[in-house]
Amino acid sequence: MPSKVVVGAQWGDEGKGKVVDILAENSDVVVRSQGGNNAGHTIKQKEKTFKLKSIPSGILYPKVCCYIGSGVVLNPESVLEEIKELESQNIKIEDNLKIDSRAHIIMPWHIALDQAEEEFKSNEKIGTTKKGIGPCYADKIKRTGIRLEELINPKKFKEKAEFLGEFNNTILTKIYGKPALQIKNIIEKYSSYANELKKYVFNVSELLYEAYEKGKNILFESAQGTMLDINYGTYPFVTSSSPIAGGVCTGAGFSPKFIDEIIGIAKAYTTRVGEGPFPTEILNETGDYIQKKGAEFGTNTKRKRRIGWLDTVILNHSRKINGFSYLVLNKLDVLSGIKTLKICTAYKTKTGEIIKNFPPSMEKLKEITPIYEEMPGFEENIENCKTVEELPINCKKYILKIEELISCKIKMIGVGPKRHQNIIRNF
Ligand code: GDP
Ligand code: IMO
Ligand code: MG
Repeated sequence: MPSKVVVGAQWGDEGKGKVVDILAENSDVVVRSQGGNNAGHTIKQKEKTFKLKSIPSGILYPKVCCYIGSGVVLNPESVLEEIKELESQNIKIEDNLKIDSRAHIIMPWHIALDQAEEEFKSNEKIGTTKKGIGPCYADKIKRTGIRLEELINPKKFKEKAEFLGEFNNTILTKIYGKPALQIKNIIEKYSSYANELKKYVFNVSELLYEAYEKGKNILFESAQGTMLDINYGTYPFVTSSSPIAGGVCTGAGFSPKFIDEIIGIAKAYTTRVGEGPFPTEILNETGDYIQKKGAEFGTNTKRKRRIGWLDTVILNHSRKINGFSYLVLNKLDVLSGIKTLKICTAYKTKTGEIIKNFPPSMEKLKEITPIYEEMPGFEENIENCKTVEELPINCKKYILKIEELISCKIKMIGVGPKRHQNIIRNF
């Protein structure tokens, strides 16, 4: 049975949650392998809207087991809130959620440091979600983090939290001039979270292997997107994990040999939240039109998302790094009503060189000018289209042009936020 990976092809918010919710119907297990509650994955059903942060988007199906791998950073308060919120909507959690004991815990000092570091950087700030993601991953790599297995071991947790709390308080007060955190209160609060979380703690990597051996359908849900990858994104304006397909293997403890399909998710245009380079950014009324029509606000932080034309230099970078089996193109409906659509096909450097490969140098990226191919847009509302044949001719041409430019088939097209608002092509 196939194992599939869903990956964001741009800067996140491509509609991964919606796609995972659709694919989860035929899955036994849905897994998150990186990121934390910086993610915001929206699922729109007929009446209800769910916004998931750390819990995999398969949770709405009672038959689907949802796993959180060791590569995720976990904010216990946030995940418990999410569980309660879902339970209040009659979603079954207890037997369906399993979290790897090796996942690292986001502690209050990580959140305080994220905020203090951003303030200190001032104009150079990353525009993080301020959820403590970077500092938590930094501690993990420095080997000064707290794992879930330690959180649920009272003696060990107290020992580590006292030591690390004091250490981080020194940084907060002496370097950043911030108030010290009350470590005793934190230990009490987190010990009570530990009691509530205990029942969800498992060896997820082992469970995944068992599921694979039994021929189960396993679906991996990446958070963020390829351009936010710590290695291959627009560093330092990235997140602190690996949202690319390869991140699934390290983050969930699953062999690359067992993965059958890698599904790239892109929007029909581009968005980005936070600071950092954005070659195709639209800073005029067309950008405002897309922002409003696409309701482009961060799911999590409510910040306005920046808007840009579709960039196939980025999509090709993404396709190559991830090895897409095919692409899903979401939010095509948002582009109706725009007279001329632009697609970025290459970049021109300061010296006049035309490049098609995404430059690893961010200094070089700052100096490029995007080269566009212009196409006539479409006026029609496509929200109810069920097949490609029903789409306006200019819309079809836009899809075919993208396929040609990225050498990758588009198998699914999003024409609205709901489960059924998709065109699925069979090939
Ligand atoms: P994710 O982080 O990749 O899961 O994406 P988000 O949920 O943060 O952002 C995507 C937004 O677009 C959500 O509000 C979705 O409900 C919405 N959405 C997804 N697909 C479509 C689509 O095809 N058309 C429209 N209009 N909205 C969509
Ligand atoms: P989903 O899974 C869009 C961005 C932040 C910031 C940068 C670093 O919903 O696609 P962090 O808090 O991770 O240290 O912030 O990454 N970012 C996202 N942008 N979608 C996301 O997740 C994001 N998660 C982080 O805005 O620019
Ligand atoms: Mg999102």
